[in-house]
Amino acid sequence: MEDRNVKVNIDNVKMIYDSKNGEVVALNGISLGIKDNEFVCVVGPSGCGKSTLLNIIAGLFPPTSGKITCNGKVVEGTGVERGVVFQQYALFPWLTVRKNIEFGLKINKVPDQDNSGKMRKLTSKEIKQIADKYIKLVQLEEFANSYPKTLSGGMKQRVAIARAYAVNPEILLLDEPFGALDAQTRTQLQSELIQTWEKERKTCLFITHDIEEAIILAERIVIMSARPGRIKEIVDVNIPHPRNQKTKMTDEFLKLKNYVWAQVYEEYLAVRK
Ligand SMILES: Nc1ncnc2c1ncn2[C@@H]1O[C@H](COP(=O)(O)OP(=O)(O)OP(=O)(O)O)[C@@H](O)[C@H]1O
Ligand SMILES: [Mg+2]
Repeated sequence: MEDRNVKVNIDNVKMIYDSKNGEVVALNGISLGIKDNEFVCVVGPSGCGKSTLLNIIAGLFPPTSGKITCNGKVVEGTGVERGVVFQQYALFPWLTVRKNIEFGLKINKVPDQDNSGKMRKLTSKEIKQIADKYIKLVQLEEFANSYPKTLSGGMKQRVAIARAYAVNPEILLLDEPFGALDAQTRTQLQSELIQTWEKERKTCLFITHDIEEAIILAERIVIMSARPGRIKEIVDVNIPHPRNQKTKMTDEFLKLKNYVWAQVYEEYLAVRK
């Protein structure tokens, strides 16, 4: 019997890719329950299978064996309850920044105001308001009518973040969403994300290479081992909320940072062997 509190359950997942050089075992024996309202960060050396795991949870492709459930249902494809920011920003090149953000909102349904439990589509005014809010959040007001090919990597990534946040999914799956951003924008979006999470407690799975980022955001950090990706250790982050950038200077933060860093470094060395 699955724990009712578990939002996404990963049960003994294995992923083998067929490549030119033979089979690549990307994931082996991954089991993890992500609880409702939990923020989980995943860290681990490059190539250990982090994106593979996130893409399987997103429903892009099935695992070779094992099972993922979301809200108790087996994941068999993508779903509106799972919002994704991919490692490679997957924007529609033929749509402007604004239209990229509005795209998901057009198919999004919200509960009707009359409390009847019925769902309705958003009006075009509402869609515009929501898009405006998120364009502002990622500071792309000047580029709202630009096409992706005219944006820098960091700007494209900000559009992808805005697009995922805008549809307000039950679960956010974020694959190094701040990886391509400059330090200032990254710090600012981290702070926004902490504050939003403290308010809404949306279930998040967040992949990052940045250990400070993982600690400041997460309730639990999953450290993955070098390929084939397995879970090496799960570390609880018992640093109280509210957290902010100053939290990074506290003793408990630094102690945890040293610990997680040492664990990840061990796996990095294993890859280089
Ligand atoms: N489509 C594919 N076909 C064959 N092998 C693949 C494919 N996608 C990923 N791999 C292999 O699977 C392993 C895990 O890849 P994945 O992208 O999940 O790693 P990652 O942990 O996200 O790395 P990074 O931190 O660099 O983003 C790697 O060895 C990679 O070469
Ligand atoms: Mg990756």
